[in-house]
Amino acid sequence: MSELIAGKVIIITGGTSGIGEACVRHFSNCGAKVVCASIQEKEGGALERELRGLGREVSFVPCDASDDASVRRFVQVAVERHGRIDGAMANAGVWKQGKVTSATRGDLDLLMGVNVMGPVWLAKHLVPIYERQGGGVLLITTSVAAHIGFPAHVLYCASKAGAEAVVRCLATDHAGVMRVVGLCPGTIDTPMLAASCAGWDKPKEEIYADVRKRIPVRRIGEPMDVARAAAFLLGDGAGYINGTSLVLDGGTMALPPW
Ligand SMILES: NC(=O)c1ccc[n+]([C@@H]2O[C@H](COP(=O)([O-])OP(=O)(O)OC[C@H]3O[C@@H](n4cnc5c(N)ncnc54)[C@H](O)[C@@H]3O)[C@@H](O)[C@H]2O)c1
Repeated sequence: MSELIAGKVIIITGGTSGIGEACVRHFSNCGAKVVCASIQEKEGGALERELRGLGREVSFVPCDASDDASVRRFVQVAVERHGRIDGAMANAGVWKQGKVTSATRGDLDLLMGVNVMGPVWLAKHLVPIYERQGGGVLLITTSVAAHIGFPAHVLYCASKAGAEAVVRCLATDHAGVMRVVGLCPGTIDTPMLAASCAGWDKPKEEIYADVRKRIPVRRIGEPMDVARAAAFLLGDGAGYINGTSLVLDGGTMALPPW
């Protein structure tokens, strides 16, 4: 499968932690030229040095995915470095708990700014490049939160439902130019998942053990589960998959609600 993205230029936001970091490692291991971005400059520099030391073509660009100008610069740098972009992954995401009664303008701006507008800004700056090149791919990391009413997650769920809508709209608006696919993970073992365990009445290990028992495949997902699927979706072998999302949840959404 790895040969499907070998030699391709792939850019990714949120590439310095969890799912995004696994994607950078996996895509570059498959022979892709990867340009990754995030707000974690120290981690980005370290990842770039580590993977270049292994002979991989990886570079890091500091970028705020919620900022139009910052994303424009990220895309420009990638094109200047490699001359083209074959695939992109809007993966940067933020998580915040809270019921509607505690919602603030700041929470709304943060969640919508990164989780919805992040993919929008990336698409905005990719489309002219894909038009010039004759096509390209955009993956957007959504979440099962788009489909499940997680308790006390109203704004996060709304932002991920928004991201799913962005997948469909971009695929129709830019038909023939950009293939757009959502990656819709369930429970994946990342720093974001660990952070979501704070404030519970049990330690993280106990929460994970309970969650493992409930997921039909009986394990929590690994970032590499998402990275392998992403590499396939970015490749030409996935050329007929468009305007939809691939759910990677170990069967969670198939469970009955009791
Ligand atoms: N972990 C899960 O269980 C899970 C489930 C479903 C969906 N997701 C989604 O997967 C994506 C990756 O999450 P993760 O679990 O790897 O989390 P993570 O916290 O480990 O990584 C998030 C990444 O996004 C980056 N980021 C955050 N804000 C940014 C901004 N403004 N600009 C640029 N980069 C920014 C961070 O620097 C980091 O690299 C997110 O979109 C998340 O919502 C995660």
